[in-house]
Amino acid sequence: MIAVLGAGGFGLAMGHAISRTGQSFCFGVREVETVAVSVDAIQKMDALKTCTGVHAVETAIRSSDLVILAVPYAAATPLVQSITDWSGKIVVDCTNPLKAGLTGLEVGHNDSAAEQIARHASNARVVKAFSTLSAYVLEHPTFGTGRAFLPVCGDDPEARARVIELGRLMGFDVVDIGPLAHARYIEPFAMLGIQLAVQRRYGHGFALGVMQRERVAV
Ligand SMILES: NC(=O)c1ccc[n+]([C@@H]2O[C@H](COP(=O)([O-])OP(=O)(O)OC[C@H]3O[C@@H](n4cnc5c(N)ncnc54)[C@H](OP(=O)(O)O)[C@@H]3O)[C@@H](O)[C@H]2O)c1
Repeated sequence: MIAVLGAGGFGLAMGHAISRTGQSFCFGVREVETVAVSVDAIQKMDALKTCTGVHAVETAIRSSDLVILAVPYAAATPLVQSITDWSGKIVVDCTNPLKAGLTGLEVGHNDSAAEQIARHASNARVVKAFSTLSAYVLEHPTFGTGRAFLPVCGDDPEARARVIELGRLMGFDVVDIGPLAHARYIEPFAMLGIQLAVQRRYGHGFALGVMQRERVAV
């Protein structure tokens, strides 16, 4: 079972993408009664057809083996720290550690949001993924014959493989980029996408892709 923590714009889009794969998931939210899109509305949405329920965060985590963090960066570390022992669960960090006003990244070069989260998530297998995609692209992964590029990294090979498979089933061009420290490259890459979307006015209906004609030795 997959838990998506946070039912904001990105969490709902993540639910949409998971539903496309046919896998079951639940939402974990702070206040079930005050969630922005009501539980009733969520349960009626065809795009969220594999959603089994909307629960309190801890209940959602308890029933899942793969937990997706679709919460703001500032909320992610306290959230993972609130669980004493993650018991080997996979935690997927989708956050972008943005400075206020999108003026830059809070962390970089020698560290990343994903590594910070991993240091505070006792016994979790942390994977960085999906933060490079807009909510819109999560819902619409294909561009003609092309697919949006989705880099994935994490220290545990089995956890990484599970997330890679999930991304492929969702319809993305997933690339395994190795250990979690490579989130130091993913997070600025996501920032480039945000710059294009907002400052360069590309909007949300675009994605960056990898083109390769042939494999030329490095
Ligand atoms: N939007 C995008 O296109 C996009 C793209 C890539 C990555 N991301 C990343 O995805 C994350 C979520 O972005 P968003 O656009 O969905 O933001 P959002 O619309 O503001 O939603 C954030 C959600 O997180 C919930 N939340 C906050 N603190 C929480 C906690 N401690 N426990 C559980 N839920 C909590 C909020 O719930 P309440 O209603 O209780 O406040 C809200 O539902 C961010 O880290 C963002 O950088 C977003």
